[in-house]
Amino acid sequence: MFDSIDHVGVAVDDLEAAVALYSDKLGMPVQHRETVEEQGVEAVLLGVGESHVELLSPLGDETPVGRFLAKKGPGMHHTAYKCADVAGAIEQCRSRGLRMIDEHPRRGIRDSLVAFVHPSSTGGVLTELVQPAAPRPETDH
Ligand code: CO
Repeated sequence: MFDSIDHVGVAVDDLEAAVALYSDKLGMPVQHRETVEEQGVEAVLLGVGESHVELLSPLGDETPVGRFLAKKGPGMHHTAYKCADVAGAIEQCRSRGLRMIDEHPRRGIRDSLVAFVHPSSTGGVLTELVQPAAPRPETDH
């Protein structure tokens, strides 16, 4: 069902400090930065080979990541698996009895399509399914 680990999501309360940590001390290049209003986050993607670390800073306290930080503090937030067909992956998860947060794909960072599996059915690990956007060379940045 999955091709690879697409990224690991990390919740942070100080985005600039976290970017400095991951880029300067851990040596990961910043590849993308985006505010995703629908998800209430500012996100920074750093490269690790073909995979990424996704730093997530909440846009407010009453957002999913804001509530996560208030409850658990900064740290690991989710694991994201790459798949070619997120709608198909949702159906497979559902048919295997996993509880979905998203019954339908929604827009993620860099125009990907994503869906989250509820951590109550994945051993406490919030799990994201990611279908990357098709490459668009003329607008790549
Ligand atoms: Co993610």
